[in-house]
Amino acid sequence: MGNPVDHSKSPWIHARFAQLTGEPVEYGKRLIGMDEFVPAVRAFIAEGGKGCNITLPFKFEAASLVDSCSERATLAQACNILRFEGGRIHGDNTDGIGFVADVERNAGVRLAGLDVLLLGAGGAAAGVLGPLLQAKPRRVVVANRTLAKAQALVQRHAALAQAEGVDLQAVALDAVTGSYDVVANATASSIAGAAVPVDPRVLKPGALAYDMMYGPAAAGFLQWAGEHGAVGRDGLGMLVEQAAEAFLVWRGVRPPSAQVLAELRQELQ
Ligand code: ATR
Repeated sequence: MGNPVDHSKSPWIHARFAQLTGEPVEYGKRLIGMDEFVPAVRAFIAEGGKGCNITLPFKFEAASLVDSCSERATLAQACNILRFEGGRIHGDNTDGIGFVADVERNAGVRLAGLDVLLLGAGGAAAGVLGPLLQAKPRRVVVANRTLAKAQALVQRHAALAQAEGVDLQAVALDAVTGSYDVVANATASSIAGAAVPVDPRVLKPGALAYDMMYGPAAAGFLQWAGEHGAVGRDGLGMLVEQAAEAFLVWRGVRPPSAQVLAELRQELQ
C-alpha cells in the first residue's frame, strides 16, 4: 500500500520468493488515496488479508495505527510492514535490516569497526539507523542539511548506540569532517536534482558509497562515487533484502534473496 505504487517492484519480488520457497503467497499492490490509509488497512483485514508492506507516504501513519510494534520500528517511528493476527495489527520495519544485509552479505562489507557517514535525517535515514548501530560500526556520523533533525534522530538512538559501543554524532552537512569507510546516502537530494551534498574527501580510498535509491535516482551519486575512487552501490539490494525480511516475518521462511536480486538486476537491464 502506498501512493504512488505503479513502479513498485515488490509484487514481482514476492511472487519470485513464493515460487522459490513454495509458500502460498498472493501479493498485490494497492494505490491508497492520501486520506484513506486507515480505512484501507481495515478493509484489507476484513477481506482476509494477512499482512502488507507500507510504502511512502504512509510509513509514519502506519506506526501510529499499530497495536504493537517491534523495537526497530519504534526507533524508526515508521513501519514498512504490518502483520494481522487475531484482530490485532503488529508493525515492524525491515528497511534497516535490509540495508545491513545488502551491505554485509551482497556487497561483502562487514560493518563492525568501520566509520560510517549517514547522509540525511528523514524517513529513509531513520529506518536504517537502529540496525546499522546493531552491526557495531566504530562510528556513525549523521549529517543533515537541517542540523536539528539529525540531532533529534541521534538523540533517539543514543541509548542503543551506547549499548552497542558505537560513537554516534550529528553534524550539519556543510560541517562534515574526516573520511569514512561507508558513505550512505539517505537524502532525497538526487530526486530533487541537486548535486551530491557533501565533499568527496569524506570518501576513504575504496570506500563503499551507497545510495538507498535505485534506477535513475541513484545515477548522480554513483557517478560521483566512481569519480572519486569509491565503490558505488545502489539500493536495489536493500529493496530485495527488506522484502526477504518481510517474507520471513509473514511466513517464517527466508527466501533466497541473493538469487532474486541477481534476477531482478537482469530484469531491469
Ligand atoms: P525520505 O523519507 O525519503 O527520507 P524525507 O523524510 O522528506 O524523505 O527526508 C528527506 C531527506 O533528504 C532529509 O534529510 C532532507 O534534508 P532536510 O532534513 O534538511 O530537509 C534531505 N534533502 C532533501 N533535499 C536535499 C538537498 N537538495 N540537499 C541535501 N539534503 C536534502
